[in-house]
Amino acid sequence: MNINQYFRAAAGAFLVGACLFCLSCAISEDPEDAVPEAAISDSEFGTMPDGTQTRLYTLVNAKGEEVKITNYGGIVVSLKVLDKEGDLGDVVLGYDNLDDYINDTPYFGAIIGRYGNRIAKGKFTLDGAARELAVNNPPNALHGGLRGFDKVVWSAAPLAAQGSAGLVLSYVSQDGEEGYPGTLDVKVTYRWTDESELRIDYEATTDKPTVVNLTNHAYFNLKDAGASSILDHEMMIQADSFTPIDDTLIPTGEIRPVEGTPFDFRQAAAIGARIGDDDEQLKFGLGYDHNFVLNRPGDGLVLAARVSEPTSGRVMEVLTTEPGVQFYSGNFLDGHHVGKGGAAYERRSGFCLETQHFPDSPNQPDFPSTVLRPGETYRSTTVYRFSAE
Ligand code: GLA
Repeated sequence: MNINQYFRAAAGAFLVGACLFCLSCAISEDPEDAVPEAAISDSEFGTMPDGTQTRLYTLVNAKGEEVKITNYGGIVVSLKVLDKEGDLGDVVLGYDNLDDYINDTPYFGAIIGRYGNRIAKGKFTLDGAARELAVNNPPNALHGGLRGFDKVVWSAAPLAAQGSAGLVLSYVSQDGEEGYPGTLDVKVTYRWTDESELRIDYEATTDKPTVVNLTNHAYFNLKDAGASSILDHEMMIQADSFTPIDDTLIPTGEIRPVEGTPFDFRQAAAIGARIGDDDEQLKFGLGYDHNFVLNRPGDGLVLAARVSEPTSGRVMEVLTTEPGVQFYSGNFLDGHHVGKGGAAYERRSGFCLETQHFPDSPNQPDFPSTVLRPGETYRSTTVYRFSAE
């Protein structure tokens, strides 16, 4: 190979590599005619205390809407979607740098595992063996423990596909990590589509019987990403019933109809319309912090919730394969988290819709099972779909 052939081969290899990495390879004769395509790029995000570098991936769809995700905790750092005027605006709460996420976050935008939500007293028994977890939300275990999936660095690989920009995150959780049995091999795939859908596919396998309940903890505010309250957002949840909790936020085991309660969101209602009602369940949650039992005719993706915000006209629909969704109205935010653009996130400036199996399922035999056994594959899909009206 002479030097010219060498350079041509090297340039070719570079272009193929660049095209695989950056999906925006809409090369046309005239760049003006080029149809924009979904694309992914990345940059440095920050360095972990142990020296591990983290990255920030930017996924852009054909409309120019953009999601930024870091491989630290798989956190959705920002999500910019169009409003009714055609203007882009961020709709999630969070920080613009790694250190703030490491130092103090109420799970902003993160992947939650191994077990999203609470396990009573941090204890459960599986196949006769008692397990003890860290009690990190006294008196219970919450969101995977002291160092859950929200606090680890995931391996990341861009994913090329027609009509979407994707990111595959992988993590191997060691046998016994945070008290959970079995080596858990986890893969989370984010896709940002030209239809403005953030699709999250979760997959996991284990080498010993264990429990798994994965979710994402994004805090949404469709108006201004947390600069103001979410109480005017109109919420619809497709749930005829919910799981009432005790004063430690653990389900009592009852499946209670929402009919006639402030938990009836089958017809859209403002989040703030009934949040101040004199209701024992609202008192226990300090607002909404409850698992809704989704109406589910079959196994596939169903519409779980639809949220709209009148000023921006933005709408978010949540579809999931899960049996439940935790609607949390940001009751514990208190202004001390200062996020992107200097916004101090006040109480109820963001809401979460955490698709999931029910809280404390490992201790509740009547709830759908969260047990995963060797040879089985845990699979779960959730789609957050955005539009404006
Ligand atoms: C979940 C819980 C809430 C709260 C937040 C984090 O949504 O259900 O009670 O702990 O996480 O602050």
